[in-house]
This record gives sequence, C-alpha cells and structure tokens, in this order.
Amino acid sequence: MTTQANLGGTFTLPNTSTTVNRMGYGAMQLAGPQVWGPPRDVDGALAVLREAIEAGVNHIDTSDFYGPHVTNQLIKQALHPYADGLVIVTKVGARRGEDKSWIHALSRQELIDAVHDNLRNLGLDALDVVNLRVGGITGPEEGSIEAPFTVLAELKQQGLIRHLGLSNVNSKQLAEAQAISEIVCVQNFYNVAHRSDDNLIDGLAGQGIAYVPFFPLGGFTPLQSSALDTAATSLDSTPMQVALAWLLQRSPNILLIPGTSSVGHLRENLKAAILQLPPEIIADLDRIGETPKQ
Ligand SMILES: NC(=O)c1ccc[n+]([C@@H]2O[C@H](COP(=O)([O-])OP(=O)(O)OC[C@H]3O[C@@H](n4cnc5c(N)ncnc54)[C@H](OP(=O)(O)O)[C@@H]3O)[C@@H](O)[C@H]2O)c1
Repeated sequence: MTTQANLGGTFTLPNTSTTVNRMGYGAMQLAGPQVWGPPRDVDGALAVLREAIEAGVNHIDTSDFYGPHVTNQLIKQALHPYADGLVIVTKVGARRGEDKSWIHALSRQELIDAVHDNLRNLGLDALDVVNLRVGGITGPEEGSIEAPFTVLAELKQQGLIRHLGLSNVNSKQLAEAQAISEIVCVQNFYNVAHRSDDNLIDGLAGQGIAYVPFFPLGGFTPLQSSALDTAATSLDSTPMQVALAWLLQRSPNILLIPGTSSVGHLRENLKAAILQLPPEIIADLDRIGETPKQ
C-alpha cells in the first residue's frame, strides 16, 4: 500500500528482515514541557500517534526517560496491540534528575532496569531496537563504551532486544561496539545547519547502517534560515518540509524521526516525503551547514 510515510522510500536494517519507511516519527515532544510529566493535552498526544500510524509511519523513536515513562505509556495507550511491522526504537543510558536534568545511567543494573522498564511500559516481550545513549545532547563524549554495550549485547542474547544501535557516539565508539555486536543504526545530532557528522553518515551508508538524526528540525528551537525560507517559497512548501526533504536527499541511509505534539505539524512534516529539491536549492542549503567536519 502506498502511504504518505512510505513515499519517502524504505530502508532495511542491515542483516535483518526489518524494513521501515524512511519517514518516521519521534515521540519525545509528546511528554509535558521540558520533556517532563504528562502532556497538557493527553487526547491530542494520542491523536498524533494514531494519525502517524494511519499515515503509514512504521518507525517510532522513543525512550522511557521521556517523561520519564510518559511517552512510552502514551504509545502503549494509543497503539497497543501494535500493528504488524511497527518498529519501536527506544534508548537507554540516561535517567532524569529531580531537577529535570539528563543524567548518565550506564551501570549494569541501570541498563538492565531500563530495558525492563521499556518492556513493561511499552507492553512488549522484546524490544525491536535499543540504542545505547552515551554522549551528551550536544555531541559525543570521548571514552570507552565497551562495558555498557556489553550489557546490552547480553540482553540481546537473552532475547529481550532484537537489534542494537548507538546514540551520541563518535566513529571510534561505533567501531568498539561493532566488535561486540552488530549495530543497525546510529542516532546523533544532525540537520541541515549542524553537519559535524557528514563523514560518519557516509561511512555508515557504506556499511548499510541507518543514520537517524535527532533534532532534524533543530530541536527545542526549530531551525530558522533565510535559505530555508527562500527554498520553501520557491517550492510552494514550508521551511520545515525543506529541512526534512534535504535530509532524505542527503543520503539513502538517513531515516527521519521529526518530533511534534501537533497533528497539523505531523501532516505537514509527512508531506516532506514527496518534496524533491532541485540541485541548485540543495547547493544553497548546503551553505547553511558549512561547519568544520569531524
Ligand atoms: N538520542 C538523543 O539524545 C535524542 C535527543 C533529542 C531527541 N531525540 C529523538 O529525536 C526526535 C526528534 O527530535 P526533537 O523532537 O527533539 O526535535 P525536532 O524534530 O528537530 O523538532 C521538534 C520541534 O519542532 C517543532 N515542529 C515540529 N514540526 C514542526 C513544523 N512542521 N512546523 C513548525 N514547528 C515544528 C516541534 O514543536 P510542536 O510540538 O509544536 O510541533 C518541536 O518544538 C525526538 O522525538 C526523540 O525521539 C533523541
């Protein structure tokens, strides 16, 4: 069936039979302000999730530390029992402080507890994909990830996790993890204006591994750029649609998880899957992101 979401094409995770539409959905914005507590409009949040699935989204990104627990509980309330083919990707490795801060939670017991919390709150017997989140929100941090990643590899062996990914990592940490267990996706901060992962994306594409940019629209402060505005006007679209279409055209291994708490924005974002950017507009947009490369 052709749906809005699969018009962006599909991607099969390496060495798996798991295929997702490249246009997915990121659920973080469904929790309350500062990703804390329940949303102001619970029915609205449930409606966003149901609309995403109806439009053909079959890849939802989440975590039990959104809320905490709130986002996963909303996903379960809106969508359980889950449609065949829906891939829910979650992440572990952080917890929330009482002051709403984001704190590393990478000890063996914290990781085991986080996987079980995700299973319970999502209502699943096994998690499709779990990303080990190790760095900070603005970028990777140096250091070995062998110990925490080994814990997740064990949980995968036990059948609690089907596939493993990484978040907020550099290429050295990726290689370290790949020596322990297969990696199917990497989720880092990247968008048209923040391109320090350009080389990493190309390397992952060569290995058939998905790259899933978080903050594809700029995150808590959505992107603002005259180049996006100009492109949007000339293509009868919106700046956010142009930013998403740019990512889809940047590399075939890029999967999108734009976040929104609004059905209107969700519909707008999904339409980016059919927006084709001509080369001269891509050249203009590329100038936004002229930052040093890793
Ligand atoms: N691994 C990590 O460390 C990490 C970190 C951050 C996020 N993530 C994941 O990445 C996903 C995406 O990131 P994100 O949601 O933080 O950032 P994002 O997708 O870049 O942007 C979300 C922001 O853009 C707004 N927005 C969405 N669509 C819009 C539109 N069409 N027009 C105008 N504004 C629009 C949203 O507000 P409205 O709600 O009003 O639409 C929200 O403020 C998250 O859901 C989460 O799953 C992962």
